[in-house]
Amino acid sequence: MTNVTVVGAQWGDEGKGKIVDWLSERADIVVRFQGGHNAGHTLVIGGETYKLSLLPSGVVRGKPSMIGNGVVIDPWALFEEISRLEKQGVRISPDILKVAENAVLILPLHSNLDRAREEAAGAAKIGTTGRGIGPAYEDKVARRAIRVCDLGDEEILRLKVDRLLVHHNALLRGLGQPEVVAGELVAALLAIAPKLLPYSSPVWRDLEAARQVGKRILFEGAQGMLLDVDHGTYPYVTSSNTVSPSAGTGSGMGPSSVGYVLGITKAYTTRVGEGPFPTELNCAIGQRLGERGHEFGTVTGRARRCGWFDGTLVRQSVQIGGIDGIALTKLDVLDGLEEIRICTGYRLGDQVLDYLPAGMRAQRDVVPVYETMKGWSTSTHGARSFDALPPEALAYVRRIEELIGAPVALLSTSPERDDTILVQDPFSG
Ligand code: GDP
Ligand code: IMO
Ligand code: MG
Repeated sequence: MTNVTVVGAQWGDEGKGKIVDWLSERADIVVRFQGGHNAGHTLVIGGETYKLSLLPSGVVRGKPSMIGNGVVIDPWALFEEISRLEKQGVRISPDILKVAENAVLILPLHSNLDRAREEAAGAAKIGTTGRGIGPAYEDKVARRAIRVCDLGDEEILRLKVDRLLVHHNALLRGLGQPEVVAGELVAALLAIAPKLLPYSSPVWRDLEAARQVGKRILFEGAQGMLLDVDHGTYPYVTSSNTVSPSAGTGSGMGPSSVGYVLGITKAYTTRVGEGPFPTELNCAIGQRLGERGHEFGTVTGRARRCGWFDGTLVRQSVQIGGIDGIALTKLDVLDGLEEIRICTGYRLGDQVLDYLPAGMRAQRDVVPVYETMKGWSTSTHGARSFDALPPEALAYVRRIEELIGAPVALLSTSPERDDTILVQDPFSG
């Protein structure tokens, strides 16, 4: 038995939440290791919908859950989420949730800066979620961030806030915005500290203890590989590494702990925010995918851009991310289409490419090379076995496996937890 790391293989919103919830029945601990409340993971259980942003999706089943050091935490957003879930009957306490003491905090000045920069950028904006993710990670690597553990030491906290504001107030003056008052920020942090500190823990030690007794760990990635700060469509990316090795660095475990890498992959493609999207469909089919797939962002409510499945990009994710197998989701959204296209490569001028180059110009200008497959008219919605799939749907699944070079380990056919077909148990390696 091995651990499992779930990552998104496209631009996010592939259905990670549903799959993590489903897999968490077989896991002992669920761990988030990067990103923050820019994530929006939706679970549907017996008709009830749960929306998670910062909390690992295992909490809904009451599984021990951890927020690793690689996550950026807005403590106010965390407690809003906890109380929202408590209203839905999900109990969250320090017995089941641990937050890494060395995780970085997102402060109000980060979300304000995120939004101010996006507004100022006009057409050059990234289309961020406005949650302060980028500015918080910038402060982390600049070594001036406030971390969870700082909340327990008022003297250090005051010192660190003063240092942080030397930078941020200079920036705010430059933007013509009011400066942050150190005393007010410290007061706000000291007010939230008694709520957050009971959850604070050396998560790396908790995980080491779990490893020693053979517990099964499920790492829950946020965003997707094409939003990775190194490997994604830079600069239209998020500010963390969304690739599978982050499960180790973002939680405090060695590389072998990552285990089986499961890439969550939508049967078509969506993207929310700005940036290149070679297979985007600005036509009735794109609109139809958006409507049938309810493609509206969980976090910001923005309509997601929709397009054909891009086999070239997913193959790139499989190779860069060491993806062992995929969970193919939302196959049912393609029901009723006469023809379905799959991107198998790109043309760029007179070149034919089997990958997406890194340059902004190339990413903007590549033209997809398509293969056309027959669609199916019968419904796959809610199918619970491969035998229940029409032959054309099965052929589509097989072609995807071939193109990306990875097998389908799980297939999802509706938002409901149990409408999931298990082909190969990722925990069995
Ligand atoms: P995540 O960010 O990767 O967790 O994905 P989101 O939750 O943001 O978006 C995925 C959406 O698709 C959610 O509304 C899910 O309930 C829904 N979903 C997941 N799997 C399926 C599926 O197989 N079929 C359909 N129709 N919807 C699905
Ligand atoms: P889940 O976990 C889809 C996108 C934003 C924007 C870019 C940068 O639900 O799959 P950020 O706020 O992170 O600085 O925004 O990344 N983005 C996501 N898109 N799903 C997500 O998370 C995303 N998290 C960030 O739309 O384009
Ligand atoms: Mg999402």
